[in-house]
Amino acid sequence: MTEIPTLTLNNGVTLPALGLGVYQSAPEETSAAVETALRAGYRHLDTAAAYGNEREVGQGIVASGVPREEIVVETKIWVSDYGRERTLHAVDKATAKLGVDVIDLLILHQPLADHFDRTIEAYLALEEVYAAGRVRAIGVSNFTVTHLDRLAERSTVVPAVNQVELHPYFRQPELQAVHAERGILTQAWSPIGGITFYPGWGEDRRSVLDDPELTGITASHGVSPAQVMLQWHLQQGRSAIPKSTNPDRIRQNIDLHLTLSADELARIDGLDTGRRTGPDPDRHMPPEMLDRVIPEA
Ligand code: A2P
Repeated sequence: MTEIPTLTLNNGVTLPALGLGVYQSAPEETSAAVETALRAGYRHLDTAAAYGNEREVGQGIVASGVPREEIVVETKIWVSDYGRERTLHAVDKATAKLGVDVIDLLILHQPLADHFDRTIEAYLALEEVYAAGRVRAIGVSNFTVTHLDRLAERSTVVPAVNQVELHPYFRQPELQAVHAERGILTQAWSPIGGITFYPGWGEDRRSVLDDPELTGITASHGVSPAQVMLQWHLQQGRSAIPKSTNPDRIRQNIDLHLTLSADELARIDGLDTGRRTGPDPDRHMPPEMLDRVIPEA
């Protein structure tokens, strides 16, 4: 295994550039995936209240035998828990389910475009728990530049990360440039383009894993398309959280022993379609998402 680079957040907290994602990992598979990942050398785990598997992430940590303090645990507050009191309580729920004393990185899952005041209240609650030492860093997810601007007007702590859809077909260069200017780490969700082939996400999609340009680069390095994409993220300084519950793929995704040339990086950049596959952060949130109850610990 090659050494995975370490990234430093804007408050000095560090994390490995590559972590395990558990979006759509069934609770009964999550603990084993986390254990496999930690044994393979991962030291960053990304979950969310809305994934329904925080408890199993905590169980996987214990089962792995890896000391808690070596691991960066990241989770997200769901939108139904936005608002000062609700968000403070959501932190208690997440902490208890994960079985940790301190959450390393706690972020808002989405902006609520048509309830932005509640989004702000939730973020200010994160600032409170950050000041109290209950989380080591705070951030956001799925924020556009406009959302970041609106947040900056009413908050004090610059988000440490913005976790957004980012893969070769949707690269968000303008957003990445704003992050770089403001000291916000770009964290890629669906870093190998899972959103381009997950079932149930609409028709008329092409899987980035089958892209001929990418498979051309892949062939010359003797690695998989996923490994090429992950190396592309790392060489461009991003944090990436590929999801897998398959032990071989979990191990493959951290076994990166290639270097991409400037030309190869540019060719991958050139695949950008400028169109997201996942949800539009400005959309009206459907009631079943807005009202979804995150269970007590
Ligand atoms: P699985 O869990 O069966 O491995 P993303 O993180 O970009 O959303 O991608 C996740 C999707 O990609 C999941 O469907 C996952 O399935 C699959 N996947 C993860 N690693 C690899 C890999 N190395 N090669 C091919 N598919 C992968």
